[in-house]
Amino acid sequence: MSPSYPFPKDWSLPLEPPAEYKRLRQEAPVCPVRLWDGNTPWLVSRYNDVLTVLGDPRLVVDSTLPGFPHLSPAAAARQGRPLAFFLRPDAEYRVQRAMLVQEFMPRRMEALRPRIQATVDAALDAMLAGPKPADLMAAFALPVALQVIGDLLGVPHDGADDLHVLSRTVGSRASSREEARAALMALDDFFLRLVEANLREPGDTLIGRVVTEQVATGRLSPPDAASLFHSLYYAGHGPSAYMFGLGTLALLIHPEQLGKFRELEDPAAITAAVQELLRFVNVSHLARQRVATVDVTVGGQLIRAGEGILAQPDSANRDGTVFEEPDRLDLHREAHRNFAFGHGIHLCTGRALALIEFEVVFKTLFQRIPTLRLAVPLEEVRFKKDENLLGVHELPLTW
Ligand code: HEM
Repeated sequence: MSPSYPFPKDWSLPLEPPAEYKRLRQEAPVCPVRLWDGNTPWLVSRYNDVLTVLGDPRLVVDSTLPGFPHLSPAAAARQGRPLAFFLRPDAEYRVQRAMLVQEFMPRRMEALRPRIQATVDAALDAMLAGPKPADLMAAFALPVALQVIGDLLGVPHDGADDLHVLSRTVGSRASSREEARAALMALDDFFLRLVEANLREPGDTLIGRVVTEQVATGRLSPPDAASLFHSLYYAGHGPSAYMFGLGTLALLIHPEQLGKFRELEDPAAITAAVQELLRFVNVSHLARQRVATVDVTVGGQLIRAGEGILAQPDSANRDGTVFEEPDRLDLHREAHRNFAFGHGIHLCTGRALALIEFEVVFKTLFQRIPTLRLAVPLEEVRFKKDENLLGVHELPLTW
């Protein structure tokens, strides 16, 4: 019988991937696993095999194909609704993705750095003026992540918390199909109203520009535009906020690495340290989902056309054949070849923005609050055990 996926995790070592991956990398690097719906995709655990899978355009993220490995009932609830662009049949996916390329150019993202710095400074001012201990997630991480993506897209800040709660319902493996559907409908409705408002009066925002160029010209329907913007908002705040929390936690529980981080001034060295934090922490810890459209061989295993594949990023990021002493956080290592943002054609659209956010957040946080520390023992930090992203409910800090 194939093992159930996702694998259980030892929550006393919250930043360690399930121990089972180490064994699989050695003994069964491409093995079948069983999902909640009985589907049995192939789990790929070695670095080089994950690289092969994510780099092969014939292995697609088309969630309408029967073999697509849906990870939860909530994820399957998207079917029948306007799908996020990256879950659509390949030809449609490429058309919609092309609409975003200009918007996420690294130069354009770099121009946002001063505004991101101002957002981070203001959130820290507010946190420092409030009571101690503070919950970093509620007082800082979520407000900053929601504001950065909201400013870029043109989503008003009033009501952002409600949009986050709806997004969590969609992203929780504990949500029923009905709960996820209701949350998806509410999110789609919200973004449809935003599309209509921008058709009447386009804002100087990503949504305003895409509505003018694509919706007003008839290239993109309003419901498809709503689902495109919804997916950007959804993908653009959760992983960032959760990484603000877990990156901070990883540095606090590795004081010698935090000491090294504080000394870094060269922007390239700060980026490299952030890449190592991403490799080590793996916020997007569940597998990248693919379906084979042709027969392929991965790691010596024949995978037939139509079968599902799970490429496991946190396992690959701890593969000792690529990263020396992979279970050690080492901010001086060369870690940019990690899979935190995926790889290949589906590489994260927002990675340039996210890297800037992380550089600004971690540097500013530890510069402005040199005595920052956990306000509770690590064992008392509550992790989100049912979500597709790895994160904490609260991160109680004091200084
Ligand atoms: C700053 C805001 C962000 C935005 C706007 C954003 C947006 C997106 C979008 C639209 C995709 C789909 C790309 C495609 O399929 O072509 C994507 C993929 C991905 N994102 Fe992000 N993202 C952001 C931040 C992050 C962060 C912080 C992480 C993790 C640390 C992350 C991890 C990923 C991963 C792993 C994928 C690949 C999915 C796959 O291979 O199927 N993203 N992102």
